[in-house]
Amino acid sequence: MVKICCIGAGYVGGPTMAVIALNCPSIEVVVVDISVTRISAWNSDQLPIYEPGLNEVVKQCKGRNLFFSTDIEKHVSEADIIFVSVNTPTKTRGLGAGKAADLTYWESAARMIADVSKSNKIVVEKSTVPVKTAEAIERILTHNSKGIKYQILSNPEFLAEGTAIQDLFKPDRVLIGGRETPDGLKAIQALKDVYAHWVPEDRIITTNLWSAELSKLAANAFLAQRISSVNAMSALCEATGADVSQVSHAVGKDSRIGPKFLNASVGFGGSCFQKDILNLVYICECNGLAEVANYWKQVIKVNDYQKNRFVNRVVSSMFNTVAGKKIGIMGFAFKKDTGDTRETPAMDVCKGLLGDKARLSIYDPQVTADQIQRDLTMNKFDWDHPIHLQPMSPTGVKQVSIAWDAYEASKDAHALCILTEWDEFKTLDYRRIFDNMQKPAFVFDGRNVVNVEMLRDIGFIVYSIGKPLDPWLKNMPAVA
Ligand code: NAI
Repeated sequence: MVKICCIGAGYVGGPTMAVIALNCPSIEVVVVDISVTRISAWNSDQLPIYEPGLNEVVKQCKGRNLFFSTDIEKHVSEADIIFVSVNTPTKTRGLGAGKAADLTYWESAARMIADVSKSNKIVVEKSTVPVKTAEAIERILTHNSKGIKYQILSNPEFLAEGTAIQDLFKPDRVLIGGRETPDGLKAIQALKDVYAHWVPEDRIITTNLWSAELSKLAANAFLAQRISSVNAMSALCEATGADVSQVSHAVGKDSRIGPKFLNASVGFGGSCFQKDILNLVYICECNGLAEVANYWKQVIKVNDYQKNRFVNRVVSSMFNTVAGKKIGIMGFAFKKDTGDTRETPAMDVCKGLLGDKARLSIYDPQVTADQIQRDLTMNKFDWDHPIHLQPMSPTGVKQVSIAWDAYEASKDAHALCILTEWDEFKTLDYRRIFDNMQKPAFVFDGRNVVNVEMLRDIGFIVYSIGKPLDPWLKNMPAVA
């Protein structure tokens, strides 16, 4: 029986391995992690991450050929194929601080593999890593090899949170990069055989190692760039009276452009986009490509601009101050159908409003109060470390309370800010919400989910990103 071990039981490791186990009953899959709480959660009925369809998949194979364990060394030493899906945070100090990937966790995983291995291994990079990481890992492994042969493959993951299970079952492509040597090709084939259990062969692409690593960074940069492009357009639409949804629709009808990823919003978030672009920028700079680096940097700058612009809209619309005013925050996750808050735009918007002394009542159907308080008190980039190594704030932010539902969050509020596109925000009883709010009552829709006309008829003053401005907003101070 082929044995797979995956180091890192997070958003990528957990779902990816569950889908492999389900589709390959003849393979034993063990997911290991240094976080005891995470592994305990995987072994309980309350999984550590929320992802539609994940529960059902895990239920079918847990205890059959899918296992979760903290006994890392045992399972690594027994495995034929080792996936490494650990955190790759942005460095906060030293060379490349604020841009380069911190490979501390990757390197320690590689050294541990070298220490405990007694048989030949295929080591698969699942984490998103800077180009040429495989080479560094290869050096660590071969310098400590004791005669054991290692083949390194790059198999970046393209799943999107919120649709991870469907993405894993029907991937657009599976990418496998490896060495173009006989042993390298054999290793590529071994991994191909795993995916071939359910992925059509023409969707499995093989490349050299560096192309695979760079393709992942490039794909995320292109996706984020589309969002920044439409968000930049949204500012122009507001200034000129065009409607960004109409513009997106017209643009997306061009088959060369396509309709996906063209929704204007308060900004992109998630653990990958910013981190991967920063990485790309750093690699370009290291290779003397300043113009290319600056080009990609702009994608992040526009994203930051969009979040600031939103905060400025809120404050300027509400008589240039939100001090002491209650604002209901609808949604904190970085997108719907996930409880993940890493780099969520809600964090920056909330911090901006708190900076103007607002009182916030935050509601999200999937994010815990503890997580929200942790996010609002954590330093930039600290979130991307294993949970038990993240600094915990001794006290939460005083002006923030967590609400059980949208109605509680909006009670007596001066304004609502919709920051995640949860479906339930489309069908709230806005009449009831309006009746319980201070007047004038504002809705700032950062995801364009509400029916603007209906809300205006109820009496709300509504701001919707990239849409023709409410007359009220037109008369307020200009927004930077
Ligand atoms: P995560 O933070 O959810 O999971 C990483 C896990 O690795 C943590 O549970 C941590 O405790 C564990 N870990 C760290 N060092 C370890 C070690 N030495 N031994 C054992 N366990 C260790 O991160 P996530 O989201 O799963 O991301 C993992 C990688 O995949 C990152 O490089 C990310 O950029 C990439 N990625 C993430 C995607 C996403 O949607 N979240 C999509 C595609 C790639």
